[in-house]
Amino acid sequence: ETYENILVETKGKVGIIRLNRPKALNALSDGLVTDLEKALNAFEDDAAIHVIVVTGSERAFAAGADIKEMAKFTYQDTYLNDFITKKWGRLATCRKPTIAAVAGYALGGGCELAMMADFIIAADNAKFGQPEITIGTIPGAGGTQRLTRAVGKAKAMELCLTGRMMDAEEAERSGLVARVVPAADLMDEALKTAEKIAGFSRPVTMMAKESVNRALETGLNDGLLFERRVFHATFALDDQKEGMDAFVNKRPPNFTDR
Ligand code: HXC
Repeated sequence: ETYENILVETKGKVGIIRLNRPKALNALSDGLVTDLEKALNAFEDDAAIHVIVVTGSERAFAAGADIKEMAKFTYQDTYLNDFITKKWGRLATCRKPTIAAVAGYALGGGCELAMMADFIIAADNAKFGQPEITIGTIPGAGGTQRLTRAVGKAKAMELCLTGRMMDAEEAERSGLVARVVPAADLMDEALKTAEKIAGFSRPVTMMAKESVNRALETGLNDGLLFERRVFHATFALDDQKEGMDAFVNKRPPNFTDR
């Protein structure tokens, strides 16, 4: 499959999607999010892919929904098409681990897309924000919800009400991003991290992801019970036997995803 608005490649067990509308700072047009959804579906269906990395350019991860496209929409258009997460919400429903490698602007829908990934690795030039308020609307793909869970009410409220941008250092300090790296090293670091995860048992990485995500959906005791059930289930896997046997016998494990 070839795409107009993204570049797709694989490196070993890692699938890489690069948003690629440089003239519009990767604004999330309908064409782009259609491509993104298709590429995510393809990587999810490909058993050889263990981890998915989504990235943009050095200048912009994505500067938001495409304002030129969106400007003319009526309420009926947005409601009937479930604008805007019907397609790109796919990133949030991936069962395989996902990483957003963010350089430059991650604004509005760009910040929201990055937050749909399991975690964000940011270049030191990254800038995050929810500037929707400045164009007469509010975040519509998780900006008021995922950002609040990530950084807490005070900072989320300030960012959504003022539209100000937060730099990479502040984003790391406040818990929005997992790690900040020099801009020149962003893809190397993101791929190293992805390859590390991809080297583990695929079902176990998926179970770990599912369990962490549960923490955001439930109370502590239900979450602990969910975790324990999944933990118990890992003992049904060959890969648990392999991992522990390898440790005991001081050899590297050879996971088979069984
Ligand atoms: C469409 C965009 C765009 C966007 C940038 N461009 N952002 N086009 N939609 N979101 C286009 C510009 O129009 C311009 O095209 C080109 O990209 C380069 O942008 P400049 O503004 O010239 O660059 P610069 O001066 O460096 O400023 C960068 C910037 C600024 C600070 C990121 O572009 C900006 O403020 N963009 C909008 C950010 C924003 O408000 N995002 C939230 C959108 S609302 P031309 O053709 O003029 O050269 C949103 C809602 C989501 O995301 C809610 C539901 C998910």
